[in-house]
Amino acid sequence: MAARKIVIDCDPGQDDAIAILMALASPDRLEVAAITTVAGNVPLALTEKNARALVELAGRDDVPVHIGCSRPMLRPLETAEYVHGETGLNGANLAEPRIAPAPGHAVDAILGILAREPEGSVTLVPTGPLTNVALAMVKAPEVMARAAQIVLMGGAVDLGNVTPAAEFNIYVDPHAAHVVFGFGLPITMFGLDVTHKVTVTDARLEAIRAIDTPAGRAAYGMLEFYNRYDRQRYDTEGGPLHDPCTIAWLLEPALFEGRDCFVEIDTTSPTCIGRTVVDWWRRSDHPPNATVMREADADGFFRLLNDCLKRL
Ligand code: RIB
Ligand code: CA
Repeated sequence: MAARKIVIDCDPGQDDAIAILMALASPDRLEVAAITTVAGNVPLALTEKNARALVELAGRDDVPVHIGCSRPMLRPLETAEYVHGETGLNGANLAEPRIAPAPGHAVDAILGILAREPEGSVTLVPTGPLTNVALAMVKAPEVMARAAQIVLMGGAVDLGNVTPAAEFNIYVDPHAAHVVFGFGLPITMFGLDVTHKVTVTDARLEAIRAIDTPAGRAAYGMLEFYNRYDRQRYDTEGGPLHDPCTIAWLLEPALFEGRDCFVEIDTTSPTCIGRTVVDWWRRSDHPPNATVMREADADGFFRLLNDCLKRL
């Protein structure tokens, strides 16, 4: 079976980095047509540089990295150095990337790929704020409608992680999320409910430490740093691997379980803006617009992660 074409739209971030490495380690199953970058965890100048450093780490200079939007559609940018460190990839210890960004804005790169590839053959995998994806929908809806599906990390059925109500990716650009969830493409949503079930425990971190390769060492360094925040903030054993859930599902969908739900984005409440309001119990008459994942086979997930890292 031909590899599935994907575009990863991201804001690296250590968890974005693990997702990128897993995808680049699986060329038999995932063809990464492009990586597009957006401001989020850290400013755009860092997220795009981090993405270029990661494709070099994976030995995949063939994958173009495009620079995207530097701020949300309406709200000012809010970043998360408190989680990811000043570089956004603290712990990775990667060299300055040699490769240049690919020509063309990320929005135009997404549209160009969808226009040239057969309809229904490209999956979009956003793992940061949805600004690039939403603006592509605004700029050329007929082209964006050619996408097969959207597999995204964002939102939550229950509590948020930036405010009591909102998860970071949706909170940073709730208006973009409103556009994306209202557009009509099939969405598979990995929110905090499921991502917090795949946390980097000490034992799982030690298993990654045993992968004595450049990618294994970078992954260990990133996750060792990344664990720090959640241990202190939530008194948990380690950090949740949010973004890699998207790639893990594309590689092994049986690792996850969810339900088709109607999801809408709060874009107005002063206390709940950025909340994904998930109609889990079908209380509204709205038809589902997303498959919301809530269960994960954590041991299976980390087995897959380690297998991917060993292939790089
Ligand atoms: O809330 C977690 C999400 O926000 C992840 O994508 C993380 O990388 C940050 O972007
Ligand atoms: Ca991210």
